[in-house]
Amino acid sequence: MRQKIVAGNWKMNKNSEETEDLINELIDKLPTDLETTVIIAPTFVNLASAVDHTEFTHIRVAAQNMHQAEGGAFTGEISADMLKSIGVDIVIIGHSERRAYFHETDALLANKVETALKHDMTVIFCFGEELKDRSTKSHFNIVENQLRDGLFNLPESAWANIVLAYEPVWAIGTGETATPEQAQEMHEFIREIVRKQYGSTIADTVSILYGGSVKPDNAREIFSKPDVDGGLIGGAALKADDFVAIAEAI
Ligand code: PGA
Repeated sequence: MRQKIVAGNWKMNKNSEETEDLINELIDKLPTDLETTVIIAPTFVNLASAVDHTEFTHIRVAAQNMHQAEGGAFTGEISADMLKSIGVDIVIIGHSERRAYFHETDALLANKVETALKHDMTVIFCFGEELKDRSTKSHFNIVENQLRDGLFNLPESAWANIVLAYEPVWAIGTGETATPEQAQEMHEFIREIVRKQYGSTIADTVSILYGGSVKPDNAREIFSKPDVDGGLIGGAALKADDFVAIAEAI
């Protein structure tokens, strides 16, 4: 059975005190018997305290990014080893904001994925088309290329540590969501290209999350689709009640 996952990408939000407050509220409000894996991704400077605060809970902590090099003269950057050394072993790679604002290319992302896996980290790999791609009906092509360029050089064994996150760029932070049917159509397509490349065992076990304006009032319908295994949540992850409601909607 595929792992169900709800991950909160906090982006550049929440200072140290706010991070602790939100984590405490999540610990209070998340049902302890939830089978869904719950992940939060606070900003770098709050990761260590997030790891401490969640130690005896089932909340897991992820980084929002990392550098591809092992270390060295890369001012302002964070390495996989640094993340691992504070107990973070999940990393989001390829978020559309990293691709758009920080010019991260498919080749660079493939490099980051390789480094993260070398350090036994789990990668939440994000990809998705822009509105112009959908309007020119090239969205399937774009998504296939992002997957091929980012991940299809990996050996089969690497896939145990890969989570896919399909995030149509036009739905991120816009309040506009893909319909459950659009999400299912793309997730099914993604699973099929993974199947063609790597076979059914990997295709049927890799979790594919949907991201883009998931809220408590649309989560249940999106998550009810057979190839949607959870969500990567931005705005709604910043409010404990909303995030808990979304985690409970799977
Ligand atoms: P959103 O962000 O839920 O605010 O649309 C999703 C994401 O960027 O992962």
